[in-house]
Amino acid sequence: MSDKIYDVPSEWAQKAYVDDAHYQSMYAASVNDPNAFWGEHGKRIDWFTPYTKVKNTSFDPGHVSIKWFEDGITNVAYNCVDRHLETRGDQVAIIWEGDSPDESRNITYRELSSEVNKLANVLRNRGVEKGDRVTIYLPMIPEAAFAMLACARLGAVHSIVFGGFSPDSLAGRVADCGSKCIITADEGLRGGRKVPLKANVDAAIAQIEGGVDHVIVVRRTGGKVDMTPGRDVYYDEACAMVTDECPAEHVHAEDPLFILYTSGSTGKPKGVLHTTGGYLVYASMTHQYIFDYHPGDIYWCTADVGWVTGHSYIVYGPLANGATTLMFEGIPNYPSVSRFWDVIDKHQVNIFYTAPTAIRSLMQAGEEPVKRTSRSSLRLLGSVGEPINPEAWEWYYRVVGEERCPIVDTWWQTETGGILITPLPGATKLKPGSATRPFFGVLPEVVDAEGKVLEGACEGNLVIADSWPGQMRTVYGDHERFEQTYFSTYPGKYFTGDGCRRDADGFYWITGRVDDVINVSGHRMGTAEVESALVAHPKVSEAAVVGFPHDIKGQGIYAYVTLMDGQEPTEELRKELVNWVRREIGPIASPDLIQFAPGLPKTRSGKIMRRILRKIAEDQFESLGDTSTLADPGVVEDLIHNRQNKR
Ligand code: WTA
Repeated sequence: MSDKIYDVPSEWAQKAYVDDAHYQSMYAASVNDPNAFWGEHGKRIDWFTPYTKVKNTSFDPGHVSIKWFEDGITNVAYNCVDRHLETRGDQVAIIWEGDSPDESRNITYRELSSEVNKLANVLRNRGVEKGDRVTIYLPMIPEAAFAMLACARLGAVHSIVFGGFSPDSLAGRVADCGSKCIITADEGLRGGRKVPLKANVDAAIAQIEGGVDHVIVVRRTGGKVDMTPGRDVYYDEACAMVTDECPAEHVHAEDPLFILYTSGSTGKPKGVLHTTGGYLVYASMTHQYIFDYHPGDIYWCTADVGWVTGHSYIVYGPLANGATTLMFEGIPNYPSVSRFWDVIDKHQVNIFYTAPTAIRSLMQAGEEPVKRTSRSSLRLLGSVGEPINPEAWEWYYRVVGEERCPIVDTWWQTETGGILITPLPGATKLKPGSATRPFFGVLPEVVDAEGKVLEGACEGNLVIADSWPGQMRTVYGDHERFEQTYFSTYPGKYFTGDGCRRDADGFYWITGRVDDVINVSGHRMGTAEVESALVAHPKVSEAAVVGFPHDIKGQGIYAYVTLMDGQEPTEELRKELVNWVRREIGPIASPDLIQFAPGLPKTRSGKIMRRILRKIAEDQFESLGDTSTLADPGVVEDLIHNRQNKR
């Protein structure tokens, strides 16, 4: 923790949309009368039929139901594209920066409209209708945004699967939502390396009962891929056959917009379902106020569209606001560790939003690669995905932003649809490491283990006491799991899964997950998923996975593995298991450390005591807590003795 405070520079307080007094009054209005507040701000998007109802939500156990603007009718693609054509048709909507610095492309709103409509026609011709699910498995190329908006235009529901996920993970996600159409590319390109996306799709489809009906393949690298006649078609060829006119479907505010799979503490990834009206209002409003976005600004969020940050803050929020949004295909250290800063100079980026893990890794390369770039266009910096440690915050502030750019440390989740806790640059003083204060309409509370609401400065678990428009509506196909996961721990409240501290100024400091979710380089991973991948290996009898502090990634994956009788714990097997998990889930799930353990610490009833495993992985041998309920206390000695230490 840091006790430094940075006051709001007066020019920011004057120029930004809101200063502190304004924040206080708007915040009070938003929570005192959400119907009036959101009734007004809901008008920021265009409606074919205006809503007359605003908030209709309940967190009551057994009756959780969330509806916003429910009788309004609109269309997300219309709001992100069509409504801008008259005033800014020739303005750049998307700047695409390729993996190679020699490749970039500007797409105006008019061009965007044409591309989206063509693809929507291609989908419609293949039978995709309102409510149908379409899986998108694409690299960071403009077609990813076209595909999202084409689905939205038809009222179809997209489910994006991050290109780093394996065929197995992809198959599970396609099957779970029953999508009959996949949009992919021949290959992806990242840091000069190719990713066999179409081959992964083929391998995934082979596992899906009934297969899928259509695969649309963008030619990204031109690499050779197998095309199944009747099922597979090249994107460019299909688009050449259709017109670029396609009316926007009339969509109800509560019709689904997208599903995004995310990891939880138990079982398989859940299909987080977001709907249309409330989501878009919230994404666009947060994008405007938090990044203090003004017309003409060049805005860059470095996330991948495979994660929620890419949905809300590369595509939907910025485009709803008529912004110029930059989409980057590559990685921060290719071809050099100056890449981010070079791109900022090349495209004159004003607002830059990235993750602490990227900052930490670039920080390791020292100041020179940053300082040899100008970055004079930068005005605001943002952080998202995991707690930012004060050292990384200070470096970002001092070296990257030259003490001139406020940092918005934005806390939120796939489930929340948009940012919930964050500074506003003209209103909130900054404390390195604190996400500071709630956005309009957000009611955070800190509770203890029993659910008692704590007052004043305190530490406990973070819950949100009432609904906001961007909130997820259900787990796709499993409303009971939705209630169980988020509303049963503290009945009547949305449980975030995060721990947090509130200081005497009422500022929030997120301390990280308190459940069995770990955050590796800002990517959410369920420990249960990695465990089930490990035990699927024929030589593994049992596995327990926990997080451990990692200098760059924030958290690393630490796996304790018990082998089948007679199996030798060799280095070779260790490598084999790492590769196995990569294949089963994807590279982001690779264990950093595997400890072969003859036994795991269990209670007499056979439950693994993860608390102890976590402490050992964290090197906190002195604070293992009560071990008297262990069936075999000797196990712990062995675990400590053989603690893996390669970092
Ligand atoms: C963590 C990403 C601290 C948190 C948008 C949350 C953060 C999880 C922050 C959600 C932040 C995200 N400070 N922790 N600014 N932002 N987190 O669903 O643990 O991929 O619960 O959404 O990331 O991850 P998700």
